[in-house]
Amino acid sequence: MKIVLLGAPGAGKGTQAVRLAEKYSVPHISTGDIFRSNIKGGTPIGLVAKSYIDKGQLVPDEVTVQIVKERLEQDDCKNGYLLDGFPRTVAQAKALDEFSEVEKVVNIDVPLSKLMRRITGRRVCSKCGESYHVDYLNGSLSCGKCEGELIQRADDNEETVSSRLDVYTAQTAPLVEYYGEKGVLVNVDGDGNIEDVFNSITAQLG
Ligand code: AP5
Ligand code: MG
Repeated sequence: MKIVLLGAPGAGKGTQAVRLAEKYSVPHISTGDIFRSNIKGGTPIGLVAKSYIDKGQLVPDEVTVQIVKERLEQDDCKNGYLLDGFPRTVAQAKALDEFSEVEKVVNIDVPLSKLMRRITGRRVCSKCGESYHVDYLNGSLSCGKCEGELIQRADDNEETVSSRLDVYTAQTAPLVEYYGEKGVLVNVDGDGNIEDVFNSITAQLG
């Protein structure tokens, strides 16, 4: 199955993507994760990406589209994929249409007013990438799955999150209409607990 996960920053794309990729046996491709790993490795792409990510802005379409195009050409994407955080502009969606036919676009809908708290309280495992929230960690600093160290993402501070939410409204939200018109959109209420959101998504995907 070729799936796109759409949603504002903090809507739960990464959290659901890990679970959905396992259920449907497709690779989880997160452009945010790809950029963070390039930043960590000090690659030329990482250097470009960092200058945008630190300000909460989008990395230019031509850089992002090329990365995804090359990734989707790999063997493990033959039977499908789960894109998390791509496309994020109408231009990216049109570019994707040129090299792959998306079957379902899941829009995880959470009121914008709830997202700041979700993101600023997020901690991620530095080893396996699992996301947690301080409200449920009981002070723990290590990953419940692999015991890796939990860290806070550099772009998870209030100022950057505020720009990311503005960018979402201006540049990414129009994709809901774009995919709605194509007839592939599935809307899911993302304001429940993680298990309930997962069940609503799988009920609609089949
Ligand atoms: P990216 O890494 O994609 O970040 P994002 O879209 O801002 O989304 P997040 O990862 O912050 O949120 P999420 O929806 O994955 O939520 P999560 O599951 O972690 O992108 C980062 C940057 O890279 C961008 O700003 C941009 O600069 C660049 N970039 C990436 N893709 C790009 C593209 N295509 N084009 C251009 N630039 C690009 O959950 C959040 C928190 O909530 C966690 O603490 C989690 O535990 C908690 N939570 C999750 N679900 C629930 C629930 N149901 N109830 C309560 N809490 C929950
Ligand atoms: Mg994410």
